Amino acid sequence: TTAVDARTDTAADPSSSLLVRACRRSQGEGLPVWFMRQAGRSLPEYKRVRQGIAMLDSCARPDLVAEITLQPVRRYGVDAAIFYSDIMVPLKAAGVDLDIVPGRGPVVAEPVRDRAGLDRLVPREPGDLSFVTEAVGLLVAELGATPLIGFAGAPFTLASYLVEGGPSKDYARTKALMVGDPELWDDLCERLATLSAHFLRTQVDAGASAVQLFDSWAGSLSAADYTASAAPHSTRVLAAVADVPRIHFGVGTGELLGLMGEAGADVVGVDWRIPLGSASERLGPAYAVQGNLDPAVLGAPWPLVANRVREAIRSGASAPGHIFNLGHGVPPETDPDVLARVVDLVHAEGPGIRAD
Ligand code: CP3
Repeated sequence: TTAVDARTDTAADPSSSLLVRACRRSQGEGLPVWFMRQAGRSLPEYKRVRQGIAMLDSCARPDLVAEITLQPVRRYGVDAAIFYSDIMVPLKAAGVDLDIVPGRGPVVAEPVRDRAGLDRLVPREPGDLSFVTEAVGLLVAELGATPLIGFAGAPFTLASYLVEGGPSKDYARTKALMVGDPELWDDLCERLATLSAHFLRTQVDAGASAVQLFDSWAGSLSAADYTASAAPHSTRVLAAVADVPRIHFGVGTGELLGLMGEAGADVVGVDWRIPLGSASERLGPAYAVQGNLDPAVLGAPWPLVANRVREAIRSGASAPGHIFNLGHGVPPETDPDVLARVVDLVHAEGPGIRAD
């Protein structure tokens, strides 16, 4: 048996799956669901296979990548798999000295602060991603009609880790460099766009059916700064995979939704701060939306979670396409049984609510 057996979607091929049709704005009453960070620390089976293996080492092992990617598909019957990797993997493969510290996030040994640092630290040429090709190959064979979503980090979000040296609350150094030395900033982001585009292209060439570009921290920018300094680089990344549906996501991006669509997306990801119907009004008829249950709500008693799920479905029904998801990633402390119930609810009640 394959992972497909648990799914309700009856497409014979990922290119006609509910997810791809939703991206193309032709899903009818069907409502696909998957979760950002569905693979990972909320799953006991993930913790088991990761024991004694560092995050970035696990990403370089195709057998482990395939197993971890499939775990939530088997458990939940979600309508898509998302490739288990990290936004920093293509940088690591290109030779950037970095690590992912548990409980903290990506940490860069020597942050980029000036021209000499940039030339020393960030290569222009992509590294060898044959382990990605191999893992995606294993996955598409196993997934059958279930689509695999490939992903990458957008240049702004990647640059924030390289400039800050690690996670940040205010992105102060990043923005100071962006505003203070636009030439250096653009050089940095052009290199990052090349690495991310290559990462996405590798996943699509090996069989991924759709992609998501994570610009998780772009919501810290004004619309003017996003337009001038972030969007042009993201546009280049998205243009490299125009042959598959493209989802573009960030947190706190209510004021940027239209710009994120125009950067070259088919679907714009929405966090919990704006109802999906309002997000869709801002975007207009050319874009589908993805989202947007507040991940924190997953910890509330089930009847209240269920009502929030129904509310998001109702709000998303006015958009030309809707992919059900959270507003950001699955929190590590999430009870997997709650996610299982969310998937079942979306599948059982989604079409009825959408038809209403
Ligand atoms: O299930 C999936 O969504 C696929 C796998 C995935 C991971 N990272 C695995 C991971 C994806 C899509 C990412 C993308 C990613 N990585 C983003 C964009 C998504 C977002 O959350 O906005 C960002 C900002 C990163 C950087 C990063 N990597 C962070 C902030 C962390 C968390 C650090 C921590 O421990 O709190 C990571 C590590 C990471 N990436 C883990 C996983 C499963 C946890 C590592 C572990 O279990 O040791």
